[in-house]
Amino acid sequence: EAGALWGGRFASGPAPALTALSKSTHFDWALAQYDIRGSRAHATALAAAGYLDDDELKRMRDALDELSSRVAEGAFLPGDEDEDVHSALERGLIDIAGVQLGGKLRAGRSRNDQIATLVRLYLLDHADAIRSLLLDLVGAILDQALAHADAILPGRTHLQHAQPVLLAHQLAAHAWPIVRDLERLRDWGHRASASPYGGGALAGSSLGLDPRLVAAELGLGDPLENSIDGTAARDVVAEFAFICAQIGIDLSRFSEEIILWNTKEFGFVRLHDGYSTGSSIMPQKKNPDIAELARGKSGRLIGNLTGLLATLKGLPLAYNRDLQEDKEPVFDSVAQLELLLPAFTGMVATMSFDTERMAELAPQGFSLATDVAEWLVKQGVIFRDAHEISGELVRFCEERGLELHEPSDEQLSQVSPHLAPGVRDVLTIEGSVNSRTGAGGTARVRVDEQLARLAERIGEF
Ligand code: ARG
Repeated sequence: EAGALWGGRFASGPAPALTALSKSTHFDWALAQYDIRGSRAHATALAAAGYLDDDELKRMRDALDELSSRVAEGAFLPGDEDEDVHSALERGLIDIAGVQLGGKLRAGRSRNDQIATLVRLYLLDHADAIRSLLLDLVGAILDQALAHADAILPGRTHLQHAQPVLLAHQLAAHAWPIVRDLERLRDWGHRASASPYGGGALAGSSLGLDPRLVAAELGLGDPLENSIDGTAARDVVAEFAFICAQIGIDLSRFSEEIILWNTKEFGFVRLHDGYSTGSSIMPQKKNPDIAELARGKSGRLIGNLTGLLATLKGLPLAYNRDLQEDKEPVFDSVAQLELLLPAFTGMVATMSFDTERMAELAPQGFSLATDVAEWLVKQGVIFRDAHEISGELVRFCEERGLELHEPSDEQLSQVSPHLAPGVRDVLTIEGSVNSRTGAGGTARVRVDEQLARLAERIGEF
């Protein structure tokens, strides 16, 4: 078959149904430029081992450069006869350089070590793009936190009023997971930078090629220690898919809060018109679609990860064609995040908070009851009793429709003799928030330090 990389031992060409099944150019063409870079580096190794003379190396490089330009311009595309990106590009190279030279390049390598390397190169580049998009997001969260340094938010557990916190504290709580995602990408990058090139089909090369030359030219680290592992392993791909899924989950949890905060009932946040959508029938609607798409896409990102893990489970070593199924899910994860993150960051950067509304709701639901208990502890009451007394005060107030600061001095002492009027000092939201000066707490001093550290961490990536 014209253009195929194999066929010598076959009496007939492949059945059309097989050709259709086998074809991967519709997704692996995304690797074309990486494949050409790999070929350039492989040519270096071939020349160093004496398989290309100086003139041939120069002509090979020129031909690969020409091929790269044609691919970039769309002047060379995979055709019907091409099984995958590798076969298409070999055809393109031979068109330019002729078969005598172009036909030499495949010596000492296999599509198996090629593809294992190319997917790493692709993911490393996109990891860099995602890194920069995540930094934008952390920056936008930080800016919002700094712009609302004093704003109070009703902190929740079980979605019920729990304790008042600073809005900046809550916002920063969404930034730290993203910082950890950035750390994950960085850690992953060390493993992903090892080079499978030179592993051949599975057993390594007999031609005396130096895989370190290829790795260095590709900007990768050391070659992998084991050619079987190098061609068969995809844990680096799965790990990347996990990081994408975790990013999706982090965005999704933030999204869920934004969606709630944006309801009439909460009324904490208003989304900018440029980052909300309307309804085709209800003229009044302004919907938080970006947050909803983030929430929805996180499911898709998880699916891409689990699909890939299922593909890998139970695969014998070394290369199996199943491994071709790694690319579409992980390419999709990359595409979804690169689409989602700019919109998400724009939404976060432009949302406006109704800080009065949040401050008004913050003390409701007896959210200062813990402060009463802790005030009692500071007066020498043991916590068990303090918890009980504070709970009785809540019940007393609830029955009479009062908030915690509203009972008279007599009523306070009626609930417990320990409840002196001085307890009212802690029954303000500012007093409550600013008393939480323990490490990682919501007191303004701690949060200011926290935001400064967050700003510092951004510089790390
Ligand atoms: N397209 C394959 C993949 O994505 C690489 C080619 C290896 N093919 C083979 N028959 N060994 O994994």
